[in-house]
Amino acid sequence: MRTILVTGGAGFIGSNFVRMVLEEHPDTRVVNLDKLTYAGNLENLESYRDHPNHIFVKGDICDGALVESLISNYKVDALINFAAESHVDRSLEEPGIFIETNVKGTLTLLKVALEKKLERFVQISTDEVYGSLGPEGKFTETTPLSPNSPYSASKASADMLVQAFGHSWGLRYNITRCSNNYGPYQFPEKMIPLMIHNALKDKPLPVYGDGMHIRDWLYVYDHCTAVWKVLTEAQPGQVYNIGGNNEKHNLDVVRLILKALGKPESLITFVKDRPGHDRRYAIDSSRIMAELNWRPSVSFEEGLSRTIRWYLDHSEWLNHVVSGQYQEYYKRMYSNR
Ligand code: NAD
Ligand code: DAU
Repeated sequence: MRTILVTGGAGFIGSNFVRMVLEEHPDTRVVNLDKLTYAGNLENLESYRDHPNHIFVKGDICDGALVESLISNYKVDALINFAAESHVDRSLEEPGIFIETNVKGTLTLLKVALEKKLERFVQISTDEVYGSLGPEGKFTETTPLSPNSPYSASKASADMLVQAFGHSWGLRYNITRCSNNYGPYQFPEKMIPLMIHNALKDKPLPVYGDGMHIRDWLYVYDHCTAVWKVLTEAQPGQVYNIGGNNEKHNLDVVRLILKALGKPESLITFVKDRPGHDRRYAIDSSRIMAELNWRPSVSFEEGLSRTIRWYLDHSEWLNHVVSGQYQEYYKRMYSNR
């Protein structure tokens, strides 16, 4: 039995990854380390809390002694680092915590991984480290890093530290850089679940700027299968881009959500743009497709329809996560726009 340490496994992508591993890879035990910030939620793994191959530990990736003890006690073979502060708007409000978790936390994990001679360290990064594209072209793995927000700057710093540990001391690592994920269990601060939530409540749908920014959407399950392939099949020291080949203008995505829910387009409200808002992201995934034979399994239309259905079927989950602090956050972020 292989044991993997998954950090941030109670968040959106991390919990989808943990669920996929427990369901599809019974020879793998998951130690799940998560601080349970506002974005971490054990309800995301409700029916897997007592799964025999799942050990949940509440804790911080900046706590080196804790990470070391987990790796020793559970004889961990590999580490996949999903833990992060992940929201661009929050990084523009309070960058410090992004440096703490995304940079210092990753550095802590790297030191312990090296000392414990882990078989593999997989860093979950983002296409945002490459900056913004003009109307043509796509990000490849050799596109220079040019981050524009405090969030993406912290992720690029972490990527560079990972590569430095590989270069200097032979850490066996991979870095994955994916485009915008969507799907079940995404916290409604991110665009797709926020728009679904507001439309369901007949509240205005706040589109930043002119709504013509482009994101390249990836269904979360497809991201998880790609990460699994990287963990189990990739040569160490490789970087892989992961994308769904689904470039869409934000406004078109919002319109599709309204149509699917039978709500009027008059709910769309154009609001003040995000400072420094990246105009366009697009991912070239040809390396992972050619080397690891990975393919996304769902089209954007199918993925969006599954996602909307999931939110309709999980109103209790949605009501829980938008109670309390979320209301304060929403007021703070959107009342001055
Ligand atoms: P998320 O915000 O939903 O989850 C992050 C998780 O990390 C939460 O469970 C949180 O409690 C945990 N966490 C935060 N700080 C921690 C700390 N100091 N110690 C331990 N746990 C901590 O994020 P997500 O959308 O699931 O993103 C996961 C990873 O994927 C991140 O590294 C993010 O940068 C990257 N990523 C996300 C997307 C996307 O579209 N969501 C796209 C590309 C890359
Ligand atoms: O590209 C990968 C990145 O995708 C990840 O690294 C980040 O963790 C993840 O948050 C996401 O970043 P974005 O900033 O692209 O995602 P977000 O959902 O915040 O916004 C998507 C687009 O929608 C973006 O152009 C901003 C716009 N938007 C967002 C919100 C929350 C709006 O127009 N209105 C909104 O209320």
